Amino acid sequence: MKILVTGGVGFIGSYTCKDLLERGDEVVCVDNLNDYYNPELKEYRLKELQENKNFKFYKEDIANFDKLKEIFDKEKPEKVVHLAARAGVRESVKYPLLYEEANIKALVSILELSKNIKSFVFASTSAIYGNSKEIPFKESQQVDSTISFYAASKLAGEVICKYYSTVFNIPITCLRFFTVYGPSGRPDMAIFKFTHKIIHDQPIDAYGFGKLKRDFTYVTDIVSGIISALDKNLKFEIINLGNEEPYEVNYIIALIEKNLNKKAKVNLVPAPPGDVDITYADTSKAKKLLNYKPKVKIEEGVKNFVEWYLKEGNKFFTKDSI
Ligand SMILES: NC(=O)c1ccc[n+]([C@@H]2O[C@H](COP(=O)([O-])OP(=O)(O)OC[C@H]3O[C@@H](n4cnc5c(N)ncnc54)[C@H](O)[C@@H]3O)[C@@H](O)[C@H]2O)c1
Repeated sequence: MKILVTGGVGFIGSYTCKDLLERGDEVVCVDNLNDYYNPELKEYRLKELQENKNFKFYKEDIANFDKLKEIFDKEKPEKVVHLAARAGVRESVKYPLLYEEANIKALVSILELSKNIKSFVFASTSAIYGNSKEIPFKESQQVDSTISFYAASKLAGEVICKYYSTVFNIPITCLRFFTVYGPSGRPDMAIFKFTHKIIHDQPIDAYGFGKLKRDFTYVTDIVSGIISALDKNLKFEIINLGNEEPYEVNYIIALIEKNLNKKAKVNLVPAPPGDVDITYADTSKAKKLLNYKPKVKIEEGVKNFVEWYLKEGNKFFTKDSI
């Protein structure tokens, strides 16, 4: 199979490309290496992927329809995993126009070119559930109260996917990822920032007074769900990919402390605009349709992250990391 992966040198994208290559697929990766976080981390992931002869890389902006069309005409991919996006809740509240371009315009560009695609996977998010009190979150519940522009852009993305699936018969699966973490993860996310700050004796801001809960999901578990969805060619589905075990931020800090053998200096602060109180996935649909079974426990996942950070990750944190 020839598979086009957008955002393929992003955090989740690089693991997705790696697993597809390992099972013998050809991967065409399109990523603009934007500077939302340190692009050297993207180059680092890219270097490893480029060791495989079945990997081809295009540094392009997928919101540029003409450039993307050239790639589709040349490569003729059979399936698409669309992961490229501006991620990050807090920045979206500040820069909605940037998010509109990357998360909506770019999605329409790629869907316009995917009318003959055998299977299309779209990366959606748990942020869509906003501060819903119906816990755990089920795909069937109403989602009309998002509290960040990021979530609104992904919700719009799901509706746009449904339109393309209905009208052009593209098999599309929208996967709602729940707080993904692991080695080579994003420097703007809590586990990366906390690890860096504890090592450098800097105080940590624990939002929601450390009581916010997240259904942290290890990156390889998420990728198993992505690849399963890609293989199933489902007509149109929206599916949660989480871990069904939300943990308080305070517990995550304690795990990092344990792995570093060092105490954190913690500022307990209110949650910023856009951050929800809890995310908690009901994954029964994923189990049924994708045979999804998350395997990595939080204790093991955080340990893997800290080990990677100490060996290689530390050089990718910059003072601009959000
Ligand atoms: N990491 C999480 O916890 C999480 C949770 C829910 C959903 N998601 C979604 O999963 C996807 C991947 O997330 P991630 O954590 O790997 O983020 P990431 O920022 O590491 O990866 C996204 C990649 O897309 C690229 N990109 C962005 N806009 C582009 C454009 N216009 N053209 C080409 N490339 C572009 C970026 O350079 C980056 O490499 C995103 O769609 C994100 O919204 C992530």
